[in-house]
Amino acid sequence: MKSTPISIELVNKIIAENGIKEVGKASIREIKKLINDIENASGTKFVRMEMGIPGIPACQIGVDAQIKALQNGIATLYPDIDGIPELKSEMSKFVKNFIDLEVAPASCIPTVGSMMGGLACFMTFSRLHKEKDTTLFIDPGFPVQKNQHRVTGLKFETFDVYDFRGDKLRDKLESYLKKGNIHSIIYSNPNNPSWICFTDKELKIIGELANQYDVCVIEDLAYFGMDFRNDISNPGVPPFQPSVGKYTDNYALLISSSKAFSYAGERIGMLVLSDKLFKKESADLIPFFGTPILGRAIIYGTVYAISSGTSHSAQFALAAILRACNNREYNYLDDVREYGEKAKIMKKIFTDNGFKIVYDHDEEKPLADGFYFTLSYPGLSGEELLKELLYYGISAISLEITGSSHTEGLRACVSLVNRNQFPDLEKRAIIFNENHR
Ligand SMILES: Cc1ncc(COP(=O)(O)O)c(C=O)c1O
Repeated sequence: MKSTPISIELVNKIIAENGIKEVGKASIREIKKLINDIENASGTKFVRMEMGIPGIPACQIGVDAQIKALQNGIATLYPDIDGIPELKSEMSKFVKNFIDLEVAPASCIPTVGSMMGGLACFMTFSRLHKEKDTTLFIDPGFPVQKNQHRVTGLKFETFDVYDFRGDKLRDKLESYLKKGNIHSIIYSNPNNPSWICFTDKELKIIGELANQYDVCVIEDLAYFGMDFRNDISNPGVPPFQPSVGKYTDNYALLISSSKAFSYAGERIGMLVLSDKLFKKESADLIPFFGTPILGRAIIYGTVYAISSGTSHSAQFALAAILRACNNREYNYLDDVREYGEKAKIMKKIFTDNGFKIVYDHDEEKPLADGFYFTLSYPGLSGEELLKELLYYGISAISLEITGSSHTEGLRACVSLVNRNQFPDLEKRAIIFNENHR
């Protein structure tokens, strides 16, 4: 056996010092801290694939607009809870231009990142109908959204979609919906962690069932437009970002500015309700929100209670970015295409060296290359693989914490890996493979 790039004893010692019993169960932030410690102690730079942070600078149009807004004194003023009018109107145009859905500016609400948009939906939709108190996750998914349920005491159910793609999705979803306790279905598309993208057939199934069972669909578009197999970057021109909104009016869209515009640090995202959902009335809302109207409940009840709106200056930033996209002055996808290109190379390095891609198809189509991909190595569990890779200076997170039933797999994120690390990655993958064959 060749010696590993980092000493096994050292890595094991630091895992123990971090109080981590099983790395496969550690959260993303715990893994991040662990890798920092191993890097410091070993002096070896990791190929860091554990955390989904943008790897490119923030959109300059936003930064300039935000600075200007601050210089104009905006910081002293509370923003309107439902968002500044210029942002709401650009959000509405953006949704029309890039998803081809009509929504009034009133139904477009800025939130403190998509994280808050999701939380606001869970907290409000769970009160819409007394008997419907449970969110259904189409997993794998973003672990923090389940934490949001845990810390607020809300209920959720979940299944891994891996074996239920295409027509099989209908029966599986119906097996949950017919129990009558589900208020919302949530999934991300493209999906964090697996990068599967639902086909139109699948979105239609979800939309039809949402109509039939009167449930909301929370469509998390954190990686908006990043299925690079289709170029959706032309405003008002097909193809558009695929969305369940084509098949149901019961939708809430979460559009993050963190990855698309590399604006993660300012914590601003978009929550877009269909006009029908915004105006929907239910007497069950009244005890909690003092109004039967869902749109008012979410803004003046939940968003007010959580954060009293969203950073004023960041709203100016996002308005300027969206305006530039809507007016064809800025093609944001040109900036982020690099993620797909890096993924293609990195996937090849791994698969050339004995690794397998766990989630590899959207029905019959090979998966797109994008922000994340999934990995396994024959004969190793996810826990073993994650730990072993640490000895080779490669970090990722376990699929186990994402609700995937593929516990042998890991999620790898390409964003923080620099192209100049590819030779190192390749060398390490080769030694790993030699040592495990
Ligand atoms: C699927 C998904 N949803 C939501 C978020 C959070 O987005 P934001 O930074 O806008 O809160 C992320 C970030 O990684 C994500 O992957």
